Amino acid sequence: MKVATHQLRCTECGTRIAGSAVNSIFRCPECNGLYDVIYPWSLIPPSIPNGDIPASDSKLPNSSALRWLWQERRTSTMPVDQSGVWRFRDLLPIVDNPENVVTLREGNTPLYDLPRCAKAAGIDWLLAKHQGMNPTGSFKDTGMTAALSVAAERKFEWVACASTGNTSAAMAAYAARAGLRSIVFIPEGKIAWGKLSQSMDYGALTLQLKTDFDGCVRILTDLVTRFPIYLLNSVNPYRLEGQKTPAFELLEQLEWQVPEHIIVPGGNLANGAALAKGFTEMHHLGLIPRIPKISIIQAEGANPLYRSLKENGGQELIPVKANTRATAIRIGNPASWRKALRALRTTGGWCEQASEQEIALAKAQIGAEGVGCEPASAVTLAGLKKLVAQGKITREERVVLILTGHTLKDSDYTIAYHRGELFTEAENAQISGSDQALHTSLRKPPVVLEADSDVVLHTLESHMNMKLSQPVTTA
Ligand code: F0G
Repeated sequence: MKVATHQLRCTECGTRIAGSAVNSIFRCPECNGLYDVIYPWSLIPPSIPNGDIPASDSKLPNSSALRWLWQERRTSTMPVDQSGVWRFRDLLPIVDNPENVVTLREGNTPLYDLPRCAKAAGIDWLLAKHQGMNPTGSFKDTGMTAALSVAAERKFEWVACASTGNTSAAMAAYAARAGLRSIVFIPEGKIAWGKLSQSMDYGALTLQLKTDFDGCVRILTDLVTRFPIYLLNSVNPYRLEGQKTPAFELLEQLEWQVPEHIIVPGGNLANGAALAKGFTEMHHLGLIPRIPKISIIQAEGANPLYRSLKENGGQELIPVKANTRATAIRIGNPASWRKALRALRTTGGWCEQASEQEIALAKAQIGAEGVGCEPASAVTLAGLKKLVAQGKITREERVVLILTGHTLKDSDYTIAYHRGELFTEAENAQISGSDQALHTSLRKPPVVLEADSDVVLHTLESHMNMKLSQPVTTA
């Protein structure tokens, strides 16, 4: 008889089921809770807290052996080894046959230092793990390779998701690779063009519903109970197994030195929980001596978790009618809010919010470091500034921002910002004098000129602050 590599455990009532026994909406029939994927080793408490566990004493995977193996795989030419998700497959044994893995060589994303953003935030050391450098330009690829591989192994023909644009782009791409058919539910007019174009390019059936993201989720949840469609929203716990792996990769990149703080944007609220799971598992296995704090930042116009924590200490979710230009996180009724809350509580992080003006400034500052990101990712820097100002993060703490999407995902936003057309007059009036000066120095609108050398020369003189009309003399 084959031994199951994993089970699903309800995060609310603790009921455990076999992975293959889960229903089509990925909710516990007893209490409607979401599931976590658990492994035999998840259940074993470490025999030596916070330390290395001798392999002979325990059934836990051996931490030194894992580190060595993960490094070795870097030199392999096998697709599963080249993937920055499946390279860590020992800690996500969710497919029975590695041949069913659907990979675009996701992960392996760069870690950049952001010295000028660090200074702007008032800290000494700031890094960004750029998940926008994934094959479809967002962090969703790490989760999609995991859950779509499960869908392929379980012989589904159709997959679907409701999305603000990035999940749908990732799903469409991975489904196409696997030869599966995909259906995308997106809110009409509320997603960035780059993302919409991707789902078409990768051959999905794209349904633009006249509602918001939360409305799309409602319709799709109803449909998957009536048709054999595999749901790939982040309620699917296999998504989170892929999305936990950037935590492993980050620690590897930092030579296993644990940073103090990780900051993620919050939308449907799965990603912070996924990373917390990754760090917790590494701690459990003795790979790291402690878990970094994870903080979640929401847009002010889409802040249900922030509001709920302020108003009722996180007892109940207060859904909101979401509205923000950071369309990726325009979500008012996030499915994974309880998981996110657990991540905040177990890691000791905070939930903050950022205004439209703060998001735009942070995005321009990240862009000006030559890194760039989509608006939703920039909430991390905006939130960091607030946490530093509140004394929750100190100058010498090492912070890593998770940049979730590529700057090209939403070029309309960037162009409107630099042309000074992003904000309404009322929004402009709310910006402080010092921030206005920052915006002015960061804005680089295109300059339209006559095709005339003199005109160009005069313009350059004023921009370069030097006289160019004299012949340049050499010493
Ligand atoms: N950043 C980006 C760029 C996103 O696309 C999303 C979510 C988030 C952050 C928030 O992550 O939902 O796990 O809290 N985008 C989803 C989508 C909802 O459909 O693409 P979360």
